Amino acid sequence: MVKSIIAPSILASDFSNLGCECHRVLNAKADWLHIDVMDGHFVPNITLGQPIVESLRKAVPRGDGVTKPKAFFDCHMMVAEPEKWVEEFKNVGADQFTFHYEATKDPLGLVKLIKSHGIRAACAIKPGTPVDVLFELAPFLDMALVMTVEPGFGGQKFMPDMMPKVEQLRAKFPELDIQVDGGLGKATIPAAAEAGANVIVAGTAVFTAPDPAETIKFLRDAVDVQLKARGIYEE
Ligand code: DX5
Ligand code: ZN
Repeated sequence: MVKSIIAPSILASDFSNLGCECHRVLNAKADWLHIDVMDGHFVPNITLGQPIVESLRKAVPRGDGVTKPKAFFDCHMMVAEPEKWVEEFKNVGADQFTFHYEATKDPLGLVKLIKSHGIRAACAIKPGTPVDVLFELAPFLDMALVMTVEPGFGGQKFMPDMMPKVEQLRAKFPELDIQVDGGLGKATIPAAAEAGANVIVAGTAVFTAPDPAETIKFLRDAVDVQLKARGIYEE
């Protein structure tokens, strides 16, 4: 069984007000905060690193999920040599470490390293990477991320031709958290939800929405309908 998880990407937030921006979307019932870490090597852009995550964790502490949001930090590591950063990101407050398959020689070793630090391990594939590279790894993963844009920048156009990857993963791994990232919003959520994605990253769509709570609910409802139709819905 899987849940719908809506993860606004803070890349689309006002970085000069980062703590407030995070509280704003958590109050709008976001489940996770998606934190895009880019190093200027693996992708042609630089965003933020561990000092910012550390400050953010102080401004947005973990809650019990009832009286206060859990404030789950979903760290999408678009970096070369991801192995180098696991311990530090865990120490500054990451709850999940998503590395790129293309960035490592030993994906399974890296999954084990991440889990040895007591956080969730996830693996992402770029649009040009075939999904079958994840088939052997998936049983060890907490989440697979199918990129729906070329990693590097927010605000790009969703690639619907990535949906067969999501469908294949969902068919093989009914209980796996499957994330999609890039160009998700009200217009594109139906395709992703129908394909079987349950973890939805949405930067621009949530942070620029006049009513983020309404947008988050829209995305969640679309996913829940499809999870129910597949018989894998968990509340
Ligand atoms: C792209 C990032 C995405 C991006 C999503 O490299 O991994 O998380 O911020 O932004 P939107 O939802 O605006 O496409
Ligand atoms: Zn991302």
